[in-house]
Amino acid sequence: MQTNANSSIDEQFNLSMSKSKSNPLPCPAKCNVFIAGSGGREHALAWKLKQSPRIGKLWVDPNANVGLRQLGEVCPQSLDPKNKFHFKRFLEKESIHLVVVGPETLLAAGFADEYHDPPNRLVFGPTKSASKLEWDKSWCKQVLRSAGVPMAEGRSFTQLDAALNYIKSREDPLVIKAAGLCAGKGVTVCANKEEAIAAATAALEKKSHGAAGETIVIEERLHGQEISVLALVDGKTIWMLDACQDHKQVGEGDTGPNTGGMGAYSPTPLATNEVLRMIERDVLVPTLDALRREEIDFRGVLFAGIILTHGGPKVLELNCRFGDPETQSLMARWKGDLLETLWLTASGQLDQATLSFETGTSCCVVVCADGYPAKARVGDSISGIDAAENLGATTQKVICFHAATAPGNAGTLVTSGGRVMGVTAVAADLAHSSALATQAAGQIHFEGAFFRHDIGHRVLQKTSHSPSKSAHSASEKSTH
Ligand code: AMP
Ligand code: GLY
Repeated sequence: MQTNANSSIDEQFNLSMSKSKSNPLPCPAKCNVFIAGSGGREHALAWKLKQSPRIGKLWVDPNANVGLRQLGEVCPQSLDPKNKFHFKRFLEKESIHLVVVGPETLLAAGFADEYHDPPNRLVFGPTKSASKLEWDKSWCKQVLRSAGVPMAEGRSFTQLDAALNYIKSREDPLVIKAAGLCAGKGVTVCANKEEAIAAATAALEKKSHGAAGETIVIEERLHGQEISVLALVDGKTIWMLDACQDHKQVGEGDTGPNTGGMGAYSPTPLATNEVLRMIERDVLVPTLDALRREEIDFRGVLFAGIILTHGGPKVLELNCRFGDPETQSLMARWKGDLLETLWLTASGQLDQATLSFETGTSCCVVVCADGYPAKARVGDSISGIDAAENLGATTQKVICFHAATAPGNAGTLVTSGGRVMGVTAVAADLAHSSALATQAAGQIHFEGAFFRHDIGHRVLQKTSHSPSKSAHSASEKSTH
């Protein structure tokens, strides 16, 4: 769904954003790309970038997983901010035209500010000040409040006494969030006051989240289905991608602690055209306008974590990057030239892009290592990737996106973290893609491997027939 100038909201948006117009900057015919980040999201992006007719040389992160290493050359320089000089020299020496940033930590460290240098080099990803929406949940809530964006009622605290008084004055249930970056593990959804007091005390007194928890946000707990809405934004045009549904809790039936994401599918039938329209009008446009008023030009991916309440869609969080594992499910069905689209976004020419998704539904099941999300065991030998991918027939496909994999001895592949592999299937509908991805995930073997067998269950439970029929798909909405 691309915002155009036909409605009053869009006119308002385009008017306020028009100051950021850039000069046309053509995408090089052979574009050298560096992809920053080492996990499953980056493997999926690199896999799609490699299919572009414009790809020159692809460089991958020094810590890249094995899937990424198979697609590109490994950068010899660390991305540590202390190594800025040498990393910049590397970008110049290798004539890197486009840097694609995966992780929020790099955006928060000012990666885009440091290395974006048009016309020689573009960085896909927002600046440090724009990505504050993600790295400071307290500031994000202020911005959303000033913009009238629907979200949970809440307040921020740095002092324990004040936080505890607030908790006592509010009705249960509450949610306690570390304001800073915690890799998806900084949120405690509390059943009662005792849990809320314990979570606030852990963050503010015991420093359980370190500096990231020096400020906490306390908010009312909302109820409803959650969806992930990712939109490309170039400073004046918004392009919403097919909406996804992630499964954050580690256990089947959505039980246990939160993780970075155990599986995702797209498109989700929960995101009807009406819901998407509301999210665009009530969340994306006013948020970007509020940034603009602060003279912040957002370019990259704006990722809204949305809960569909009885009172309409409300924001749970905003991220400033592609989601993981949402990206694995999106890239599996992405049609067209991802490289050109990212270039056009970073250069403020998104209105020139063509974008669509293959029909059907894609589903990513994340195979994890024993102990995740607490302390995952590592170093176990992995097998079964070919067997998993061979389950994809001509009308279906299975792709194993590496996440935490590393080279072992004598050409073996070993686990190197909690989320090891994103097994992604595309099929005609959610029931089939979820079944295929689950079956394929069962082919991946390593000591202590586990995964959820119920990705998509919150929608599949409700329908005995194909749920994808009512799903919004950008391929239908694209006006180009
Ligand atoms: P966040 O990182 O803020 O998206 O939070 C992670 C997860 O915690 C979300 O996906 C929700 O499942 C849950 N969560 C966060 N905030 C709330 C809230 N206000 N009400 C209910 N659940 C929430
Ligand atoms: N899958 C959720 C995230 O990327 O934040």
